[in-house]
Amino acid sequence: MRIRPLTEADLPAVTGIYNHAVRHTVATLDTEEKTVEAMADWLAHHDERRYVAVGAERGGRLVAYGCLSPFASRGGYRVSAEVSVYVAPDSQGAGVGPAVCAWLTDYAGEAGFTTVLGLATSTNKVSIRMLERLGYERGGAIARIGYKHGELIDLEVYQRFYDDNIERCLQEGRP
Ligand SMILES: CC(C)(COP(=O)(O)OP(=O)(O)OC[C@H]1O[C@@H](n2cnc3c(N)ncnc32)[C@H](O)[C@@H]1OP(=O)(O)O)[C@@H](O)C(=O)NCCC(=O)NCCS
Repeated sequence: MRIRPLTEADLPAVTGIYNHAVRHTVATLDTEEKTVEAMADWLAHHDERRYVAVGAERGGRLVAYGCLSPFASRGGYRVSAEVSVYVAPDSQGAGVGPAVCAWLTDYAGEAGFTTVLGLATSTNKVSIRMLERLGYERGGAIARIGYKHGELIDLEVYQRFYDDNIERCLQEGRP
């Protein structure tokens, strides 16, 4: 399996993977499926330096993708990132998600982020397990923050911290 930056050519596969999660899961609280054009706009908001978007390719097919995104667009949040990972339904349960998440988590350390946030719906035990195995610490939960498929949703808040980057940020006074 090869993990590499996403390109526009991947967008139909990315859109298919994401829309499956929109339709069938509470992993995302999106309730409307995305178009390829909307996902192109999403990709344009990522880059190859800090807020990366990557795909996992196996046998010439995109089986998963993931990204680091700003937690919010306000400038003060440029020090940190939020991680997201989505695996094609027929490739789940075989370590693909953890491999992509591990890649992004390592990359975030090299890119200089102070912390990476992982938000998981409380019923998403696979995602929680994946984050815990990769050194993310549970910070708490945001209760009853959403509603989808007849369920009230609690979000579990997980963070991986990068102590060297936190120290450098404080010393240099910049992200
Ligand atoms: C969550 C997701 C990224 C995980 O990727 P994956 O490749 O399917 O993950 P795996 O099943 O290989 O591994 C995850 C871990 O969860 C464990 N797991 C599987 N089912 C579990 C369950 N019901 N309860 C607890 N742990 C479980 C696995 O054993 C594995 O742990 P291990 O490494 O200690 O063996 C993937 O399933 C996915 O894309 N789901 C839909 C979208 C989503 O939820 N994205 C995350 C939100 S950003």
